[in-house]
Amino acid sequence: MDLDATLDAVLSTALDAAIAMREDGSIAAWNHVAEDVFGWSFDEVRGRNLGQVIIPPELRQGHHKGLERYLRTGVARALGKQMEVDAMDRSGRRFRAELSTTELRHGGERLFVGFVRDISARKAAEEKIAEVTERLALAVRTHSIGIFDTDVETGGVYWNSELERIYGYGPGEFETHLDAWRRHVVSSDLARVEEQFGKVVAAGASELSYSYRMKRRDGEMRHIDASARFFYDDRGRNVRRVGVNIDVTDRKLAERRLSETQAELVHLSKLSSLGAMASSLSHELNQPLTAIANYVAAAKRLARDRGCSHSDPLVEALDRASAGTLRAGELIRRLRAISRNEPVQARQISLGPLVSETAALAIPDADTKGLALELAIEPDADEVCADPILLQQVIFNLLKNAAEAMDGSPGIISVRAAASAPNEVVVQVADTGPGLDESVAANLFAAFVSTKPDGMGVGLSICRSIIENDGGRIWAESTADGTTFSFTLRRHEESLDEPG
Ligand SMILES: Nc1ncnc2c1ncn2[C@@H]1O[C@H](COP(=O)(O)OP(=O)(O)OP(=O)(O)O)[C@@H](O)[C@H]1O
Ligand SMILES: [Mg+2]
Repeated sequence: MDLDATLDAVLSTALDAAIAMREDGSIAAWNHVAEDVFGWSFDEVRGRNLGQVIIPPELRQGHHKGLERYLRTGVARALGKQMEVDAMDRSGRRFRAELSTTELRHGGERLFVGFVRDISARKAAEEKIAEVTERLALAVRTHSIGIFDTDVETGGVYWNSELERIYGYGPGEFETHLDAWRRHVVSSDLARVEEQFGKVVAAGASELSYSYRMKRRDGEMRHIDASARFFYDDRGRNVRRVGVNIDVTDRKLAERRLSETQAELVHLSKLSSLGAMASSLSHELNQPLTAIANYVAAAKRLARDRGCSHSDPLVEALDRASAGTLRAGELIRRLRAISRNEPVQARQISLGPLVSETAALAIPDADTKGLALELAIEPDADEVCADPILLQQVIFNLLKNAAEAMDGSPGIISVRAAASAPNEVVVQVADTGPGLDESVAANLFAAFVSTKPDGMGVGLSICRSIIENDGGRIWAESTADGTTFSFTLRRHEESLDEPG
């Protein structure tokens, strides 16, 4: 066979573009793949200088020099090796190619055969993958994304080190089995999550987002947001589960704190509107209150002129009416002071008489309603340091709520007080009513929260601002047997309590 026929036979079977070049640089053979890759037919390039055909112009010089050097010295740079080069097709498109060359001798003639593979698509894909991987790694690191890959059949898992860190382990420390993960998950949450997995698999679905709580290695409870992809074999069995874990505990806490702050702000703004309301009310009410006080005083004079004695029930009633008017005026003034953050006028007072007097005002019809009032004030809790008008308002609101909760049915309302700390007394107002309604329990002390058709929902809000303004606390406990409101008071001015 002559050389051309041999070359044709060999090169035509090659899967890559195959080209043969003579010592003078001319093209001796060119297979079909080369025709496809470079866009030239063999007939068009036969005998032409290879460098001129497939090498980008700026690289041709190097190619010629290399060939010349090899022919002169016999030292090859490219021969017998695989290398990446830049090539060019008929349209001038440049592409990255993998080139391997070999030398052939036939008779006295020397030929160089090159196999060229266009790897531009593979290169681009590789670059893309490297870029995506880099970006992914960055995301995994900066957002602390834990990755798992579970073999569902065996329970074997792969964790990345970020996931190990989330669960409190160093790299390679977290046992690579699903059971190790199960032991960390709060058991009620584990049951729920595995039920969700079951549903996904039963439906043949491929994705799930879920969350659960887990106990980290150091015992701290953490909240995890997770999502997983489910893979099935050709018989439809779930064989693999791959997904991510993110520890959202800190975010959850921040959200909760934010919503608490918001609630607090809403509370404050309601309170300040309450303050504004109290201010304008006090202004509006001052005149009618003064008028009532004047009329009551006049009525008392008239009664006496008509011979009524001091102990006459009519005169007693009028006395109470004028005391009530005074208290109303005073209360409005003090609430206004609180809304302006002015200090309260606290002094030492005795709880017992104050509670009795307030109960008579708050539930005047206790007897007819079948309400029994019980007082249990321990001797060392009787003397407290408070603003009597404001404290009376607190007890008044709580007793009124208790009586309203009874809703006409008989029962017991008790007021207890006991010392709870060197400088603290806890006062409790308890009823045997139906307990707190679920709809108000969470925001009980917020303003305008009410279940009553004509309730303003400000009673407890006022109680809270009065008690907290004085450094105390107020809270409620409710069972099916009734509700107990508790609040704290100081027994004496703080300074008395200081050791000295
Ligand atoms: N002792 C109690 N037992 C059951 N529910 C109570 C009791 N005290 C308060 N509540 C509930 O808390 C809600 C808020 O009470 P709050 O005193 O702030 O407002 P209100 O009584 O509805 O209206 P008002 O502004 O006239 O006092 C009530 O509507 C009621 O649902
Ligand atoms: Mg009320």
